[in-house]
This record gives sequence, structure tokens and C-alpha cells, in this order.
Amino acid sequence: MTEPLTIPIGQRAARCPFAPVAELYDAQKDDELSRVKVPSPMLGEFDAVVVTRYEDVKNVLADDRLRMGGSMPYQPGNLLSYDGPEHTRLRRMLTASFTTKRARELRPSIETVVGSALDALEEAGPGADLVQVFSTPIPTLVICELLGVPYSDREGFQRRTALALDFGQSREVQMEKAAEMMAYMAGLVAQHRENPGDNVLGRVVRDFGDQLSDEELAGIGNMLLIAGHETIANTLSASVALLLQHPEQLAAVRDDPSVTDSAVEELLRYTAPATILPRQAAGTICVRDQEIKEGEHVVASVLAANRDPGATDGTAGDAGDFKDLDSLDVRRPPQRHLTFGFGPHQCLGQQLARMELRVAVPALLTRFPTLRSAVPHDELEYRTNALVFGVNALPVTW
Ligand code: HEM
Repeated sequence: MTEPLTIPIGQRAARCPFAPVAELYDAQKDDELSRVKVPSPMLGEFDAVVVTRYEDVKNVLADDRLRMGGSMPYQPGNLLSYDGPEHTRLRRMLTASFTTKRARELRPSIETVVGSALDALEEAGPGADLVQVFSTPIPTLVICELLGVPYSDREGFQRRTALALDFGQSREVQMEKAAEMMAYMAGLVAQHRENPGDNVLGRVVRDFGDQLSDEELAGIGNMLLIAGHETIANTLSASVALLLQHPEQLAAVRDDPSVTDSAVEELLRYTAPATILPRQAAGTICVRDQEIKEGEHVVASVLAANRDPGATDGTAGDAGDFKDLDSLDVRRPPQRHLTFGFGPHQCLGQQLARMELRVAVPALLTRFPTLRSAVPHDELEYRTNALVFGVNALPVTW
């Protein structure tokens, strides 16, 4: 038997940071499931079965015998720490705040936030870092307003989040930053207990406060704050970096508003910022005909699955949409990528994320029609050793 590969959690191909490592393409072709070693600062290095095919990833993420518990440290209130009925109970308390309708209602305020970020970019002038001036402030301001978190506190929570999710940091630093985030949120929860605001945190306290401990409420707030700004900020930066490297695709998004929705889905498919999703088997299960034993870890490679040439959407005759998946095609009919996961833990904030991207990307390209990278593309530093993939800085000019 061959030695399991070691795959750092966010690892991507050396030749292109948007592509999976070659070993994952090989694993996808192999009928036998591959075993990998996953270095994780939180859990230490662990062995896992890696699933890379579109159908396998869907099946694994939908299987309730594959649990979150054990695959990451327990955090009260964080939906990613719960399984089964307990998870359903908590998730139901939040779903009304994150529907498609709610995202649509937020569009005008997202447009205002994006407008201010564009003004700030103009003011900063050519050479400005898009990550700092555009991609980070937009989702941060939106989630602060939505949750009821003061925007003036952003510097502290952005810094703590980045460190808590950075696998280059020691476990001690990560745990310390996570604890600081919880302490910060506990203060806000106490204020909402006293005087619930007209926002998501206030609503949860008002409607479910008697069923939740302060710790759970702080955990819910923390999860939404972190997921709500870090993921979108990275997706937005990575998406713009990608478009700047594909000028003809960029022009299509800039010049044809009818392309916006398919472009956003394609950018989500291609960037797949949550590169792998971990689970642990709570019983013996089978993926295709192969057994995964109780206690074994499984990691689902969303990035590889999003490019699986064997994928179909289950509708006969539709396989054409799933062709040539290594290339970026913003006009590709929107397809079922797995960037937001699948099954019970599928991203709660996906409609909000889509809306922010649909507003921000075309607005940026229309306001700055000659936008381009201020540094050669191969000098950009990507965030490949973190829970969420992105680009560290994106200096732009126009
Ligand atoms: C482009 C942006 C985003 C991406 C790529 C993304 C991706 C994901 C993925 C892959 C999962 C599933 C994790 C798993 O199954 O292990 C997830 C879960 C989650 N996301 Fe997102 N997310 C994004 C934006 C957001 C936003 C804006 C929010 C909230 C405001 C959010 C809140 C959550 C929550 C609460 C969960 C846990 C759901 C559960 O366990 O039931 N996400 N996200």
C-alpha cells in the first residue's frame, strides 16, 4: 500500500492557485478512494479519506452519519459544532434572517455600502490595495449592520479573525484569538439581553433568548460575524484577481449586465474559498462500494469536485454544462457547484453572499472600466494556508 499523501488544508496547485493540487486530480480518476494526511494546527495532523468526485462529495456531505463533531474543536452556538436534531434546532432559529427574500430586501443597503467603497477606492487612487479598501469593508459593514455589531470595532475583530483562521499560527495563538472573539461577543450579547436591537442578534435574543445560554448566543454571533465578513472578503478579492487575469471574461461581466448572475456562480465555482470540508464517521459507511470505518476522518475537496469532468446534474442531456471545467467561463449556464457545501450544513449565508457579489463585482468594473493589477500577476501572494482561500493584497490601477 502506498504512503498517504500529505495535503495541507488549503493547498492548491503551484502553477495556478485557483486549481487543486495535481494529486487531487489523480485521486479523482482513481476508482479507489485515496487516504491523505491533513496537517491541522487545531487538531494536529490527522489521517483522512479524501473525496474528490462531485457525486461523492455531495453524498458525503448529505450523509448524517458523517459528523462535524470530532472534525473541529467544539464551540457552543457555532452550527459547525453540531449534528442531528441539535443542529436543526439551532439552525431553525436563524434561517428566517438569511432567506433569498431577505437578501433581496438588503440590496439597496448593499448598493449604498458598495458605492461608499468605490468612492474610497477612487480617493485612495491608483496603487490602492483592493483587499483593504474594497473587498474587506463591504462585507464587514453589511454583516455589522445586519447583526448589530458596531462597525467601529472592526479593526479588532478583523485582526483576531484573520489570526484565528491562519494555519501558519500556532494552536495557542489560534485558541487565544478565538477566546478573545468569544469575550468580545459576550459583551455585545449582554447589551442585547438588556435592550434587544432591531437586527439579527437582537431578534435571536428576543425570540429564543430563553432557550439559549449566553455562551451559545455569543457563539452564534461570533460564527455569523466571522463567516459573514471573512468568506465574502476573500471571495471578492480572489474573484477580482481572477478576472484581471482573464480580460475577455472581465469585459463580458463589465459590459453585459445579463451575465452577472452566471458570472457570480462561475466565480464561486472557480475560487471555492472553503477548499476542503472535514467530517468524521459516526458509524461504518460506504462511499461507492468502499468502506469508511467508524471514527475515520473524511475530507471533501470542494475545489476538486467543482472541476469534476464526470459530474452531471442528474438530468439526461445536460452534461454539456459540465464540460471543460478547468477553464473560467462567466457565460457558462449556472451549475450546481459545491462552494457553499451541501446537505444539512450547507451555507446559511449563501443568498447574502451571492447578493453582495452580484452588486459589488459589476459595480467595480463599471466604475473603473480600465481596472488592472498594479503588479505582475505572478507576484500576487495567495492565502493558501488558511481555512478560507484568498489573496493577501491586490494593488490595482486604472
Ligand atoms: C462566498 C462566501 C461564502 C462561502 C464560500 C461560504 C462557504 C460555506 C461552506 C462551504 C459551508 C459549509 C461548511 C461545511 O459543510 O463544513 C458554510 C457554512 C456556513 N456559512 Fe457560509 N460561506 C460564505 C458566506 C457566508 C455568509 C455571508 C454567512 C453569514 C452571514 C455564512 C454563514 C455560514 C454558516 C452559519 C454556516 C454553517 C451552517 C451550518 O452548519 O448549518 N456564510 N459556508
